[in-house]
Amino acid sequence: MDHTPLLAKAQRLDAEDPLAEFRERFFVPDDKIYLDGNSLGLLCRDAERSLNRVLEEWRTGGIGGWLDGDIPWFMMAETLAARVAKLVGAESDEVAIANSMTVNLHQLLATLYKPNQTRTKVLIDAHSFPTDRYALRSHLRLRGLHPDEQLVVVRPNESRFLDEDEIVDALANPELQMALFPSVVYTTGQLLDLERLCRAARENDVVIGIDMSHTVGVMPHALDEWGADFAGWGHYKWLNAGPGSVAGLYINRRHFARDGRVDAGLAGWWSVHKESMFEMSDEFFPGVGASALQIGTPAVLSMAPIEGALQPIEEAGLARIRAKSLAMTEFIIAATDRELAPLGFTLGTPREPHRRGGHVSLQHPSAQPISLALRARGIVPDFRKPDVVRLAPSPLYNTFTQCCRAVEQLKDIVAAGVHEEFASVNALVT
Ligand SMILES: Cc1ncc(COP(=O)(O)O)c(C=O)c1O
Repeated sequence: MDHTPLLAKAQRLDAEDPLAEFRERFFVPDDKIYLDGNSLGLLCRDAERSLNRVLEEWRTGGIGGWLDGDIPWFMMAETLAARVAKLVGAESDEVAIANSMTVNLHQLLATLYKPNQTRTKVLIDAHSFPTDRYALRSHLRLRGLHPDEQLVVVRPNESRFLDEDEIVDALANPELQMALFPSVVYTTGQLLDLERLCRAARENDVVIGIDMSHTVGVMPHALDEWGADFAGWGHYKWLNAGPGSVAGLYINRRHFARDGRVDAGLAGWWSVHKESMFEMSDEFFPGVGASALQIGTPAVLSMAPIEGALQPIEEAGLARIRAKSLAMTEFIIAATDRELAPLGFTLGTPREPHRRGGHVSLQHPSAQPISLALRARGIVPDFRKPDVVRLAPSPLYNTFTQCCRAVEQLKDIVAAGVHEEFASVNALVT
């Protein structure tokens, strides 16, 4: 075991951190240690600037911004899609910036869930994010199918992790039309072997989608290389584009028609070809590529921060971001083993780096009051029922010293029983 004092180790890692300079780009609260980057990333100056510019364009030019904006609003989604595509390993025309993650999921299900005589079922995991399950259930109902009969659920093992061997076996079910898995499971922080799952899905003619909400902006992806069919994600978590910022989706070009058009399951006037949009025709001409999966007028003010938020990520590069993210979660895991395990905490996240996303889940029977006690001391984690404290250090604005302080405070709170004062507080921990 490494016996170097934790703080000294953290300070050494901070001194050697090649991404340290990016912290200044963010509005980091002085009085808090913010470890919630997987729920809502902090604002950076670049995102503030791009949002302010668009506000100014609206203030001074009114409707003119649609064509005369620095990035014309009319093409803002496509312009940003070309940049986001690089983060997810796709061609520009396979990515759309549109709607919310949940609406994009509805759009993708409406477009790609095509039950037939033999294949109707959908494979998911027991930890899938509620919105994924609710969306799937509603699409099954809309097709006259009973969700309880059609959803095939892979259960986690006793450590609460999903076993890819079991998923691969389950994908061989000849009744499956579709599978939907998260890149990182939001409760445990487990990163799935997406390449393997996509390959198995392809071999079994199953359409596979990935909920990448917990990975976009914090690690590289290779959607085209993996051969995924579709994916969706938000930009407000690790990508730091602000609460409710416009989301992203991916559709593999094998689902494009020969002329590149995509027939959106949920169509609107932004699903038609941009050039014919203002013809207001009765006839529907599907748009080209993923952009056809936009539905209506984009929420420009919620999209504008994405432009700036991408800047530090592109400059830092996803490889360096992932390396620091792993080093930070490694630090928290080692500190947990040393300082927190004797106090009843268990690690709820895989130890192997290649199976870990950007956050660490710590399980404790009193996780909710502990989370509240941490917040009262200015450390912002989040809590997930029933017993998980999630610590999510952002490689762009958190330090190893902050990770160290969070573990010290957790130790102090539980050792002194401070959390018991919060046991009856019925607060919402978002
Ligand atoms: C894994 C996952 N999927 C989907 C969503 C839903 O995204 P939205 O509410 O932006 O539609 C979230 C939101 O936190 C999430 O964590």
